[in-house]
Amino acid sequence: MTDAYDPGREGAQMSFARDMSYGDYLHLDAVLTAQHPLTDAHDEMLFIIQHQTSELWMKLALHELTAARELLCHDDFRPAFKMLTRVARIFDQLNSAWDVLRTMTPSDYTTFRESLGHSSGFQSHQYRLIEYALGNRNTNLMKVHEHRPDLHSMLRAELDRPSLYHVALDLLERRTGTAFPARTRRLRAPHQPVAEVERAWEQVYRDPRTHWDLYELAEKLVDLEDYFRRWRFNHVTTVERVIGFKRGSGGTSGVPYLRKMLEVELFPELWRVRGAL
Ligand code: HEM
Repeated sequence: MTDAYDPGREGAQMSFARDMSYGDYLHLDAVLTAQHPLTDAHDEMLFIIQHQTSELWMKLALHELTAARELLCHDDFRPAFKMLTRVARIFDQLNSAWDVLRTMTPSDYTTFRESLGHSSGFQSHQYRLIEYALGNRNTNLMKVHEHRPDLHSMLRAELDRPSLYHVALDLLERRTGTAFPARTRRLRAPHQPVAEVERAWEQVYRDPRTHWDLYELAEKLVDLEDYFRRWRFNHVTTVERVIGFKRGSGGTSGVPYLRKMLEVELFPELWRVRGAL
């Protein structure tokens, strides 16, 4: 006779022969059988799970960004703000995740690095979609997806849509009654800082009460970029810690390439305007 506590006696559902269970709903069979280490190295599982979970969070970030952009196209600020805050929190979550990966030493990594071949996060189509959705549209980086027409056309479709920053600039232009040069609307190029845009943001920051929606939007964007920058910085620091200045498995210079990416500015005028106030 056992006196162990039995939640079933208090009504907990205990049989799922005919009912959808937790695992069924979440398709855990598919998720938990998607880890296939290529070596016996103990740390390869950490490496795989860290990348897979990052990809899942990126999937959610894309879901939120796409919806927020759509809402902003209809001047529907409130729910869009909630989603943009969520994206910043996702990056915060990804930032904390580096602490787990940092427990892997260079000696641990070399036990399986050869097995990766040329695969690298550099080929993450979701990461590239996030960059394109935000406005950093370097089309040279599409080439690594040419062997996958489905992913390639997903990236092309994203480039045909205005980015989140394009949408923000449309709102800024309309609501402050300014006219921006046509180059602010180019869809297939990274956004370059434009003096008229900075001046319009300056109007907003000098009089937040009159332009409260734009003011709040600007701060949401800065917040998002702040967390995104921290992700880039954590990545490059972890990479230096693990492989030093070796070339990346994707074939770039490695740390020098990633340091160059630290210079990317998603919403440049929003950072510049701070110095003008
Ligand atoms: C020990 C762990 C890691 C190392 C040594 C590493 C190394 C690198 C290197 C050297 C690059 C430059 C491209 C190349 O030549 O390969 C790169 C790019 C990239 N990695 Fe990692 N990485 C690690 C972990 C991660 C994780 C956990 C993620 C999460 C998904 C990730 C995502 C990316 C992305 C998205 C890029 C492209 C960045 C860009 O183009 O701006 N990496 N990584």
